[in-house]
Amino acid sequence: MLNHIQKIHGLSDAFFTEHGRFPSMFIQTFGCQMNDRESEKLFGLLQAMGYVESPSEDAADLILYNTCCVRGKAEEKVFGRLGRLKTYKKAQPKKVIVVCGCMPQRAEVIDELKRSHKHVDVVFGTFNKHHFPKLLLEHLNTGSKVYEILQEHSETSSEEYDGQTSRFSPHKAGVTVMYGCDNFCSYCIVPYVRGREKSRPIDEVMMEIEALVADGVKEILLLGQNVNSYAYGFDKLLRKINAVSGVERIRFMTSHPKDLSASLVNAIRDYEKVCKHIHLPIQSGSTRVLEMMNRNYTQKEYLQLIGYLRKAIPGIAITTDIIVGFPGETEEDFENTLEAVKKAEFAGAFTFQYSQREGTPAASFEGELSKKVVQNRFERLLAFLNPIQLAHNKAYIGQIVKVMVDSDETDIYTGRTDSNVLTHFTSSTKLNLGDIVDVNITSCKTFYIAGEKI
Ligand code: SAH
Ligand code: SF4
Ligand code: F3S
Repeated sequence: MLNHIQKIHGLSDAFFTEHGRFPSMFIQTFGCQMNDRESEKLFGLLQAMGYVESPSEDAADLILYNTCCVRGKAEEKVFGRLGRLKTYKKAQPKKVIVVCGCMPQRAEVIDELKRSHKHVDVVFGTFNKHHFPKLLLEHLNTGSKVYEILQEHSETSSEEYDGQTSRFSPHKAGVTVMYGCDNFCSYCIVPYVRGREKSRPIDEVMMEIEALVADGVKEILLLGQNVNSYAYGFDKLLRKINAVSGVERIRFMTSHPKDLSASLVNAIRDYEKVCKHIHLPIQSGSTRVLEMMNRNYTQKEYLQLIGYLRKAIPGIAITTDIIVGFPGETEEDFENTLEAVKKAEFAGAFTFQYSQREGTPAASFEGELSKKVVQNRFERLLAFLNPIQLAHNKAYIGQIVKVMVDSDETDIYTGRTDSNVLTHFTSSTKLNLGDIVDVNITSCKTFYIAGEKI
């Protein structure tokens, strides 16, 4: 691979000789934190190949979309953006357009790209990101379209980036600990586009974390579709990371309720750097729907689990994901979701309207709901959730909380509490990204708390 990188660097040097500047790139990421992390690696690879960041998509010599297909809307967004690129490509035929990530893993997407988006030059999926230099070189040398979609990992590890990586945030970093998913929730496309669950060995993860810390990272976000089934013991991994000096905060996502073990709960409680926050998607509050979703727990079991968590770790913040409008969801099922939301007192929730994904079991379930019904339930759910979240935030008023500084772009700093609540605050002294400071909370809204540094 180094060979491919060097060869492209040679082309970038030639570009410099001709144009007086290096070729520029623009990366747009869609979807989850896993894609964010992978985009950092693609950015690092492009840098190693002599590319510099472009201030705008318009001006870029290479445009890369790292895509998501979890819901129809995510895909429509990408196709819309690609449609707009047609005019750029006509005006500047040498512009290189790259599409990668989860979308190309779907055969229907490949058909659509070949039929209606002939201006896309290089396409690859989730299992061969490390082939990017090879694929790009092939396109640059021949001018032809290059498609490479694999159905599983082509190497023993998909971390074959030769250490080339970059970071979009100086003080925090995502670290993927597992790839893929084996849960096959009936609505979800992820297992099909990300393959079977595969854990990275502890040593490999630790090496990556040590390197990040040496580079100034203070917060580590461990990533996996279901970190609770990490093959080498997730609690053990947390213990090891907790012992690394320089690491100040450890977060992780996502946890599947069916696999949350007592030992993990103890680990969250006992390791002081592990943030007292857990993202625990409930998806639905109806046991009947949960069964159709293949989630393997009932409403009662979920609520018991939450009760256990709150008892073991007083004050723990619990956030969730909820889908409304699953096929066959009745008004009663939906009311069960509202009931569960009320009892669980979530500190926050991501809410989604069910989106039918071709190839998943739920796509052939009967009882598709009308848009109107789904929209109505969605709005009712938000109207239910928001006051609960606001009440959580109000409880911070008058308290002093520790906030890590994430943004210093304006006069008002932004950061997050240990419990992951977005916090806006002022400070009379200059702060740096990654600083952890005491903030006196004086006001709040539904989606944030606010105050001043003391
Ligand atoms: N592995 C994680 C999250 C994966 S996708 C987990 O299980 O929690 C993130 C969220 O997208 C899911 O939690 C679910 O709420 C939502 N989602 C997945 N497929 C969906 C679909 N077909 N329609 C609507 N929402 C969906
Ligand atoms: Fe999808 Fe379920 Fe796996 Fe999450 S656990 S990625 S929702 S199949
Ligand atoms: Fe989307 Fe792929 Fe993540 S489908 S949610 S980018 S794993």
